[in-house]
Amino acid sequence: MQYAFESFLPQFDIKFGKGTLKEVGNLTRRYGNKALLVTGKHSMKKLGFLDETIKYLKDSDIDVTIYDKVEPNPTVAIVDSGAKVAREKNCNVIVALGGGSAIDTAKAIAIGVTHFRNENSSIWDYIPIEGKKSLRITEKTLPIIAITSTSGTGSHVTTYSVITNKETNQKPGFSSNYIFPKVSIVDLDIVSRMSPELTANTGMDVLAHSMESFAYRGYHPMTDIFALRAIELVANNLPKAYSKPDTESRANMAVADTFAGLSIALSGCVLPHAMAHSISGHYPEIAHGLALAIVSPSIMKFNIMKADRETTKRYILIAKTMRKKVSKITKKEALKSVTALEELLKKIGLDKKLSDIGVEKEKIEVMARDAFICMKDCIDYNPTSVKKSDVIKIYQSAM
Ligand code: NZQ
Ligand code: MN
Repeated sequence: MQYAFESFLPQFDIKFGKGTLKEVGNLTRRYGNKALLVTGKHSMKKLGFLDETIKYLKDSDIDVTIYDKVEPNPTVAIVDSGAKVAREKNCNVIVALGGGSAIDTAKAIAIGVTHFRNENSSIWDYIPIEGKKSLRITEKTLPIIAITSTSGTGSHVTTYSVITNKETNQKPGFSSNYIFPKVSIVDLDIVSRMSPELTANTGMDVLAHSMESFAYRGYHPMTDIFALRAIELVANNLPKAYSKPDTESRANMAVADTFAGLSIALSGCVLPHAMAHSISGHYPEIAHGLALAIVSPSIMKFNIMKADRETTKRYILIAKTMRKKVSKITKKEALKSVTALEELLKKIGLDKKLSDIGVEKEKIEVMARDAFICMKDCIDYNPTSVKKSDVIKIYQSAM
């Protein structure tokens, strides 16, 4: 195998540990004095972290405007109205407090505020999908401080944001170096408050990022280091974090989340993310991690069946890292990675089918179409080549 890779990681500044939220005031002050604080509707308020964040920001002489309208699988409308608030208040820094949804919304708002052209401007104009021209995201983008409250999306250390267009039911991810957070805060006191269900969904997201970036077409030796370690950490800690969480399993899942995030920042995701985004695009109530749990086993089987020797080896290494005994380089051995994943999903209550969660088979065709329109890169970088008819068959097998 010959390696050839290119990667750019923007400024990387992470504060990881118990109680690191305290530092948010000082850290934010380096970038601005008028913050838009972006968060969800309930959890951070209820758990007291919103009040704490406001206090630390104010202690550092920062004006705070709260935007607490984020919903899971955030939409264009939520971003556009947040950008309007930030513009009216002259905000010069965006602070996100929450899971991937709050952080992605904050990233998109950071673009929306400073790329305003007229009253009809929308973040949608800046999101590239197949067949649509998009405007350029520039260095005008406001700085982002990301406080993550889940151990899942890695959004605190990625150049990605994922925003849903409710009018078209499309959920594309997009990337810009300008939205990589200037500072990321991972406070273990915050992520430790996740419910078992949220721990399972977000934990599966971590595993998907690490397995997919490890299988990414062309491979990437820097990704490999983060991805394999993240897979190992998830295999050894997610069941515990789900059923009997302790400090160690929580901390290890937060490390895994960060490693898996860096892993996709260095390379990227492949087919499972393309197919999972179409599911949540059409069914916004379906959590990202749950969608991934349902489609990933069938996709791995599809990839292994078509795999060349190097890809086969990669799936065998995934199986080995998830503590399966493996011997020769054969497809049969590689399929042990799927067994390992299925066993893990059972332990965390995510061994489900699309029909169990209300996905109708009539939607399969349009979900397959949207995977190619919205997440083409993930399909192009899948380790094996994929046609629309393959995607349809995989959705059918996950029904
Ligand atoms: O809505 P609120 O009240 O904030 O509550 C949230 C939400 O209802 C709650 N929650 C968050 N942290 C909590 C908590 N509850 C208790 N304790 C805590 N510590 O959990 C619910 C789900 O939150 P959400 O932010 O939606 O979850 P997640 O972190 O999984 O983010 C999912 C979003 O991120 C995108 C997904 O597509 C999805 O839209 N992704 C972003 C990526 C990126 N930017 O790099 C990569 C990923 O592949 C992913 O696509
Ligand atoms: Mn993901």
